[in-house]
Amino acid sequence: MVIIAFYNLKGGVGKTASAVTFAYLAAANGLKTLVWDLDPQV
Ligand SMILES: Nc1ncnc2c1ncn2[C@@H]1O[C@H](COP(=O)(O)OP(=O)(O)O)[C@@H](O)[C@H]1O
Ligand SMILES: [Mg+2]
Repeated sequence: MVIIAFYNLKGGVGKTASAVTFAYLAAANGLKTLVWDLDPQV
């Protein structure tokens, strides 16, 4: 299992956008993928 996390205290820097894009690419390449956005503000 591979875990990739994006972390930054600042908002609006692209954490969610990056996580969704990486998850999409992983899933599109056949990896079983869970995307979990823990941002308090989505
Ligand atoms: N690489 C990028 N290029 C252009 N706009 C981006 C990029 N990454 C994020 N954004 C835009 O910046 C805003 C905030 O991004 P978001 O992923 O929600 O940030 P975070 O999760 O860090 O708060 C969104 O409107 C998003 O579309
Ligand atoms: Mg976010």
